[in-house]
Amino acid sequence: MIITIDGPAAAGKGTLAKRLAEKYHLAYFDTGMVYRAVGLKLLIAGISPDDAEAAEKAARELSFIEMHKLSERPEFRSAAGGQAASKVAALPKVREILLKMQQDFAVSPKSPTGESMSGAVYDGRDTGTVVCPHADIKFFITASPEVRAMRRHKEYLQKGLVSDFEDVLAQTKERDQRDSSRAAAPLKPAEDAVIIDTSGMDIATVFAEACRIIDAKLFA
Ligand code: CDP
Repeated sequence: MIITIDGPAAAGKGTLAKRLAEKYHLAYFDTGMVYRAVGLKLLIAGISPDDAEAAEKAARELSFIEMHKLSERPEFRSAAGGQAASKVAALPKVREILLKMQQDFAVSPKSPTGESMSGAVYDGRDTGTVVCPHADIKFFITASPEVRAMRRHKEYLQKGLVSDFEDVLAQTKERDQRDSSRAAAPLKPAEDAVIIDTSGMDIATVFAEACRIIDAKLFA
């Protein structure tokens, strides 16, 4: 079974995807990691994430092992890391290069400990539309920019990072704008996606709703 969860930044995709993967014994792929890894490789090398040629080279050389190594660095989940990711993600050639790596994961999905799993939960922007168009169940998780910025702001504070709500809100809107207006795989729900607006919902409610939809499909 392949489940895709797309949506804008800080909508709660990751939390939901991890819980669903655990409950249904599926592997989990956070596809934002591939773009964060390419963006961070450029930042570390002192190269602008707008440099298309350098981004393509970094994407071509990226392996799963390198991606996981980079993800251990504190900058990986930082605001600067997110902005760099969204810039390289707007480059069509970079997306094309990274597509195969993402699709291959569904062929033999594995848990972080290497255990073979019977399917996967994909979390991203275009996993229901481009990466796994034939997924069994597709969700599009969203929330207002203010709610999402507040969640991200709290996440930074919890990690002990300095954060200003107004700055986080401005960055959230900037990233939404870039992700939705780009020509290559713009952020939008797949035609057959179930849309969940989580603005007034806590994670337990979102999880229960997603399980209800999956169980209805599994036991139909
Ligand atoms: O956690 P958050 O939603 O802030 O970020 P993420 O999922 O790690 O994604 C970082 C950036 O990568 C996004 O702003 C997108 O521009 C890009 N991305 C994408 O284009 N396609 C995906 N399937 C996943 C992420």
